Amino acid sequence: AQRIPVAMGHIEGVPLLGSTCDAWDSIYNFQARGDDILITGFPKSGTTWMQEIVDLILQEGDAQKGRRAPTYIKVPCIELIPPKPRPIGVELAQTMKSPRVLKTHLPINLLPPSFWEKNVKAVYVARNAKDCMVSYYYFHKMNKMLPPPRNLENFFSAFLSGDVPWGSWFDHVIGWWKAMDKHQILFIFYEDMIEDPMREIRKVMKFLGKDLSDEVLENIKYHTSFQAMKENPMTNFSTVPNAVLEQTISPFIRKGTVGDWRNHFTVAQNIIFDEEYKKKMEGSGLNFRTEL
Ligand code: PPS
Repeated sequence: AQRIPVAMGHIEGVPLLGSTCDAWDSIYNFQARGDDILITGFPKSGTTWMQEIVDLILQEGDAQKGRRAPTYIKVPCIELIPPKPRPIGVELAQTMKSPRVLKTHLPINLLPPSFWEKNVKAVYVARNAKDCMVSYYYFHKMNKMLPPPRNLENFFSAFLSGDVPWGSWFDHVIGWWKAMDKHQILFIFYEDMIEDPMREIRKVMKFLGKDLSDEVLENIKYHTSFQAMKENPMTNFSTVPNAVLEQTISPFIRKGTVGDWRNHFTVAQNIIFDEEYKKKMEGSGLNFRTEL
């Protein structure tokens, strides 16, 4: 079926969905609360995985409570304006009881200032750029709210130049990384979560000031595993109509691995990528692993 063209806009030079730009005043003036927990990261970095981990930590591992609502309702993305009848992120967040878990993909310079005024704790999920790109490419193919990609070559150039929704991966990771000395930010790598989920879940638990038994943590690990989240209708986005997310093209919980870029990049693309990467990341002090 023919896809309806998606409007894009820019806020301070960052490409965002047109619907986000239209509602920008209410998004930027969003009022955070001191006990909010913010999940953040560039799109496709594993933020949905993290929001389930954080929710289950708050529910002390009670998977039944975790299934009380779809993950995008429990943890609204503040800048997202979904098609009606779903309420928009900021409006839904305003109606929620504390403590709220909220999500954003915004680069740090566009974050509503009230998050820092209230000294909110943020968990940043960072994923290596190559896998992020591949995951984002498939997401553009299946998500009707995003502009359809022509092909991988085309998307590759757009991603490298930051001409994709939410902008440059480089600016995003470096911006949040540098903000760690000023704000309460826990930086978690997707690759570390894949390598040792228990270790990373424990880090998040400590950051949130909780103390849960190993048994509860094992339970959280189990219920937030790739397979469990793929099968759980509250986390696999099967509650979103096909007209918005066409999961027969590519499932939301797609592959969940490190190094899938190797199945997609040509040798030439990899050289171009590495050169650009070196230029942009040099001196940032931020290091990723691209295979395990
Ligand atoms: S979004 O749409 O930007 O919020 O996407 P996000 O949730 O940040 O990232 C989606 C990718 O995370 C993978 N994922 C997981 N990997 C491992 N374990 C678990 N439990 C898990 N849940 C989600 C998801 O499959 C996307 O990555 P790819 O590489 O496409 O599989």
